Amino acid sequence: IVGYYNGQFVTPNSGIVPLDERGHQFGDGVYEVIRCYGGRAFLLDWHLDRLWMSLQAIRIAPPFTKDECATLIERLIVESGELEASIYLQITRGSAIRNHLFPNPAVKANVSATVRPVASQIAKEPGTLLMMADERWANAWIKTINLLPNILAKQTAHDMGADEALLVRDGAMIESASSNLWFVRDNQLITAPADRYILNGITRRFVIQLADRLGIPVRETKLPAKDLATVDGIFITGTLTEVFPIHRVLTHPDVPYVSLPDVTGLQQLSADKCQ
Ligand code: PDD
Repeated sequence: IVGYYNGQFVTPNSGIVPLDERGHQFGDGVYEVIRCYGGRAFLLDWHLDRLWMSLQAIRIAPPFTKDECATLIERLIVESGELEASIYLQITRGSAIRNHLFPNPAVKANVSATVRPVASQIAKEPGTLLMMADERWANAWIKTINLLPNILAKQTAHDMGADEALLVRDGAMIESASSNLWFVRDNQLITAPADRYILNGITRRFVIQLADRLGIPVRETKLPAKDLATVDGIFITGTLTEVFPIHRVLTHPDVPYVSLPDVTGLQQLSADKCQ
């Protein structure tokens, strides 16, 4: 395990983040989670491209070039000594006395990172989703560190015995709390289009590429929640989730703040439909 803060390798909880830090006080920053397989950062270029898009979206000047960032990540992996790891990289607007306005003049962005060992999820048993309303803001495509709706959704799913949330916005099943959502129907893959309402997952992009190579059609379209019973299978994807099959979708009348579409009778997808 290794930590990093503004040029220094540190132990992850050494407490060096200033109190007047905008990520800490406002969630004013962006991040990436990158998977390291066999000591190498997987799909690093795609992660860096997305990180740069996120920085631009919230108007933070990148504190280094993409090449310098890639070098840093490689150094972090070596320093950690891990082969199978998750790399968390965060960039915030910097440290300044608390004020909603951006610091003027601008301050240098703060860069922090951790590298921790992880195990593959691939062999895990199929999981369960809990359907709930997507209460995130309208810019879910930006990978910001503001994740309160996501963590509440995932905790609620966990409390109901599910592995992840199935988020419904405008009647359509678009994403999970920390993964992208996929359906299999009529030998096609269906996933929500990468518009402003979902994070354009790196693993999602990789699966689209794999499907293309395998000749499996992918439809990027929003599947209405009322069509849940028409699907043959469900899976979710993410950097740490990898490709995780789902065999059940729960709906619950007691889930707080949820107004569900009418899914009466569709409470459970049978396991045999989702191979
Ligand atoms: N989460 N959707 C959301 C809301 C996510 O937070 C993530 C990733 C994904 C999948 O994206 P990718 O394939 O690029 O990891 C989709 C990361 C891993 C996290 O917050 O830990």
